[in-house]
Amino acid sequence: MPQCFLLDGAPCPDGRGALPLDDTALTLGMAVFETLRTYGRRPFGVDTHLARLGASARFCDIAWTDAIAGSIRSELATVAAAIPSESKLNVLLTGGGHRIVKAEDLDLSRAGAPVRVATRPWAPSPWLPGRVKHTSRMAWVLAARQAGVDEVIWVAPDGVWTEANRSNVFVVRGGVFCTPPDDGRILQGVTRDAMLAAALGIGVPVCEDPLPAGPCEELYLCSTLKELAPVVEIDGYPGPGGGPVGAAVLAEFRRRARVMAGA
Ligand SMILES: Cc1ncc(COP(=O)(O)O)c(C=O)c1O
Repeated sequence: MPQCFLLDGAPCPDGRGALPLDDTALTLGMAVFETLRTYGRRPFGVDTHLARLGASARFCDIAWTDAIAGSIRSELATVAAAIPSESKLNVLLTGGGHRIVKAEDLDLSRAGAPVRVATRPWAPSPWLPGRVKHTSRMAWVLAARQAGVDEVIWVAPDGVWTEANRSNVFVVRGGVFCTPPDDGRILQGVTRDAMLAAALGIGVPVCEDPLPAGPCEELYLCSTLKELAPVVEIDGYPGPGGGPVGAAVLAEFRRRARVMAGA
């Protein structure tokens, strides 16, 4: 599978490079990151991803300057150009101030593919708000693994769904396309915002209100790589899956992504 890695701007053949062994990314799990993808082989939403990465880095006291942002921008273009098809792109900034930019073949089959979830309790931390896209996710990974599902939907102490391991959550209730608000408990997904804009663009009513658990007509996880993925199983029971509202929004989202990419 074609891959291309840069460490602090330098090529890393075979994906190998040297990081100091006392980098806090290794010793404490302190790192922030972004996952992007290309449409028409052009990275999608670079400005939004860089703004979020900068905010995450500043929150965690990880080095962030205009020069670093500029380097990442050109490195993303370099690694994407090295992959002959659509690519998945990653940027990771370590606590020690190092930068990894990576591209690999994009697995197109994940976009819109059905997912299985479980719900589990989670109290968001004021010391590490949901807006920060950090790598310290071991508890979340283990929760999903132990539940035997693709992702867990987190239930806050007030009983509302917040987000999932690597995704935002959308439901359709009464024909309205709803997702939880950006209230510090979720990552404000780049895809989430683009999906809301696509829905409004085709006249689908949207809401960003707290999302009580309960019945809905359609249920989705939403992210860069999944786009809008129907939930077909929840807590061991059949999920509502997808339907006409999500299908229309996803088609409009993809149309817009291709236009933005000039494809
Ligand atoms: C916790 C969490 N929420 C939401 C998302 C979706 O974000 P995006 O649409 O920017 O990929 C992600 C993506 O990795 C995530 O990790």
